[in-house]
Amino acid sequence: MRQLTPEALNPAILNVQYAVRGELAIRAEELRVQLKGENHGLPFDKVISSNIGNPQQKGLDQPPITFTRQVAALMEWPALADIAPDAFPKDVVARAKELHEAIGSIGAYSHSQGVPFIRENVAKFIEERDGFPSDPNHIFLTGGASAGVSLLISMLISVPHKSGVLIPIPQYPLYTATLARFNGVPLPFHLNEAADWATSIHDIEAAIEKAHREGVTAKALVIINPGNPTGALLDEDTQIELVKLCEKHSLVLLADEVYQVNLHKPTTHPFISFKKIVSQIQSPVPLVSLHSISKGVSGECGRRGGYFECTNFPANILDLIYKMVSVNLCPPLSGQIGVDTMIRPPNPGEESYDLWKKETDEIHATLAHRTKTMSGRLNALPGVSCVDSPGALYLYPQIRLPDEAIEAAREAGKEPDAFYALQLLHDTGICVVPGSGFGQKQGEWHYRLTCLCPGVEDYVRKLEKFHEKFLQRYSGAN
Ligand SMILES: Cc1ncc(COP(=O)(O)O)c(C=O)c1O
Repeated sequence: MRQLTPEALNPAILNVQYAVRGELAIRAEELRVQLKGENHGLPFDKVISSNIGNPQQKGLDQPPITFTRQVAALMEWPALADIAPDAFPKDVVARAKELHEAIGSIGAYSHSQGVPFIRENVAKFIEERDGFPSDPNHIFLTGGASAGVSLLISMLISVPHKSGVLIPIPQYPLYTATLARFNGVPLPFHLNEAADWATSIHDIEAAIEKAHREGVTAKALVIINPGNPTGALLDEDTQIELVKLCEKHSLVLLADEVYQVNLHKPTTHPFISFKKIVSQIQSPVPLVSLHSISKGVSGECGRRGGYFECTNFPANILDLIYKMVSVNLCPPLSGQIGVDTMIRPPNPGEESYDLWKKETDEIHATLAHRTKTMSGRLNALPGVSCVDSPGALYLYPQIRLPDEAIEAAREAGKEPDAFYALQLLHDTGICVVPGSGFGQKQGEWHYRLTCLCPGVEDYVRKLEKFHEKFLQRYSGAN
């Protein structure tokens, strides 16, 4: 019998890259194991996971929203409401009863598109958010936004190696990884760091023309708003221009809006959904809007819940999406229930409201404080510039590295930013993701770090000390 080798597998799989869980994250896990041994010999006593936006991860410990978990507990075990009658607020018991009546046991498959009652609630949430109608039949509940992205890209790539998707650079690597998997072509356009990571219509037009010259058809435009890793928020005029651009080039607009409530400066940088823009200007552009329970204040990454809404999609395309989701039977019920509690939090006057408000206010305030502190202190370091993100969970500082460091990195067979990030990990235990994983202009180096780590003072001091030491270590050429 022939041995099973990677070459025997689908070659597209070998081209998939996903830096968020790449070399740095793997090395961090090894160090975490090493720390458990006596005399581990490492200059730190814990690994700090700044590499992934996973707020409830051990060590980051963002507390889950009590309301979400109480409803989830009663959905898992409805008898608990009678066994522990004083343990749950009345509105939680009523919510779980209502969901139970709509769903039955969460151990059963649901409608493939997601529980109709929950989709109706999502439609109401969208209508209240935007002031325009939403149809529950155009909403698909998913096992996280990633599942939606994967499905949509798999459906859009019609001619392998000749169908492309426009991707902002820096990007969240889900997009290039998914394109690689389905033999689609990433069509990159750079965001403008000097203008706080603004999106330029001109640069997207240039990417479309380049694709055209290379015989690749642009099928869709991905916009991440608020951005990952940049945290940037689009203004309304740019959003309108982007919709018009999609009209001009017959593009599907994939609006990744998973960070829509992570706003650190909501008065100057508000979130406006693309659904609202498309509805306002009555555009015919096919729009997919993605949302998730993994981010925001919910942070329920492991529960795997999200949804996408299709706007301006013809009925026969919706039927095809339905056919494809039905192959996977249904999204996880625990994730669907997570979506319901995210988009239907307690109302003022209900028993759970005060605690929900306190918990969510605290998460928003902590994130905004950390983002401001970290960006301010990073900016003050020699050779570092960092846009003070108005949204999402990350910072994406640029690091200008001494020539000696770049040479040493090349000798070690590493990209200079990966070289920097590995030394940061080995010196401090802080795990970040090198910019090469998200994309950056040639000759520029960045890294992405999350603003989710507790003890921000101590954390920033470690970053500062390391940076200064690194510059000294390679200061000969500077
Ligand atoms: C921009 C963006 N889209 C989608 C996702 C995936 O989210 P989910 O956990 O819902 O699959 C992430 C996760 O970090 C993200 O940053």
